[in-house]
Amino acid sequence: DKGTYPFYMLKEVDEQPNVMRKLAQTYLSEHGEPNIDKQLLQAMEAADRLYIIGAGTSYHAGLIGKRLFENLAHIPTEVHVSSEFAYEQPMLSEKPFFIFLTQSGETADSREVLVNVNDAGYPSLTITNVQNSTLSREATYTLLLHAGPEIAVASTKAYTAQIALEAILAKALGELTGQIIAQNFNIRQQLGLVATGMQAIVDEKDKLEEMSSKYLLKTNRAFYIGRGIDHAVSLEAALKLKEISYIQCEGFASGELKHGTIALIEAGTPVIGFITQAKTAGLTRSNLQETMARGAQTLTIVRESLAVDGDDLVLPDVDEMLMPLLSVVPAQLLAYYTSLNKGLDVDKPRNLAKSVTVE
Ligand code: F6R
Repeated sequence: DKGTYPFYMLKEVDEQPNVMRKLAQTYLSEHGEPNIDKQLLQAMEAADRLYIIGAGTSYHAGLIGKRLFENLAHIPTEVHVSSEFAYEQPMLSEKPFFIFLTQSGETADSREVLVNVNDAGYPSLTITNVQNSTLSREATYTLLLHAGPEIAVASTKAYTAQIALEAILAKALGELTGQIIAQNFNIRQQLGLVATGMQAIVDEKDKLEEMSSKYLLKTNRAFYIGRGIDHAVSLEAALKLKEISYIQCEGFASGELKHGTIALIEAGTPVIGFITQAKTAGLTRSNLQETMARGAQTLTIVRESLAVDGDDLVLPDVDEMLMPLLSVVPAQLLAYYTSLNKGLDVDKPRNLAKSVTVE
């Protein structure tokens, strides 16, 4: 039931702070100890490489997961689009462990990979929002996202739930393998900060609607750019805008733009930069300048500690690794308001279904 909300998507965006709290309550003790199946953690610890498999938004959540598993648990991690992996499997390590990210648990492309993984006898984990879904039944282990039903076709709370759960899992693994960075990472406190930060952003709806009207409503092309983890969020931000507003939008590694794609920038093209990582903040700012010099209308989404006068949207500070949980929220709302004010059916964009059960 969407209650007083005009569309499920907005309700689901608003639910994200609670989803963060629910995940912390479910998977962490009051003191932050992980409440996760020991056998699962041991099976992951025994692996020499993690393979994250997903499609669309779930693939994008995997791109953040790679950073979390590598930083916190020091386990090399690859992320693959399921429809590609199924038919062109990369060379595998000796002891692979597979993580399937799938909100619905029914995506045929991802299931095809799991069938092959099971045939080969490799251990696997499905992270899903739907208990007893096909991929949850067929994997060795399952963890539930506890995000509540996601009805809008455009995925929002499942993306942030997947990232938060990957962070909890990476922290637990890192502690098991004795990584100091994991021991010092107070995940319980961080998820609390994330929940509060998300709330502050969803409380700024008017501002985001205004930004959408000013910069996105009348355009047919846009860019989100960033480096590293900000690049990964750019891909998700662009997908959100594409699928519900039908604006052609690319998520781009900001340094790569000048190697060709910058030719697409015209007078007024919106280029939105994510700046949440200290070591690349200056670089992304100069890449934004380069687009501005070609006529782009630039906007910045910046974490507080890196913000300067004139930044367009300032995000509360949480650990750098968890900034995607905050930076994606304004992008979800920009997509929402653009779709809404174009008079489109936000929850049911054309040509799309909620779960894609064909390959
Ligand atoms: C985009 C979106 C899709 C899904 C993709 C995978 O907003 O929802 O890209 O993420 O179809 O679906 P699941 O996660 O159910 O496997």
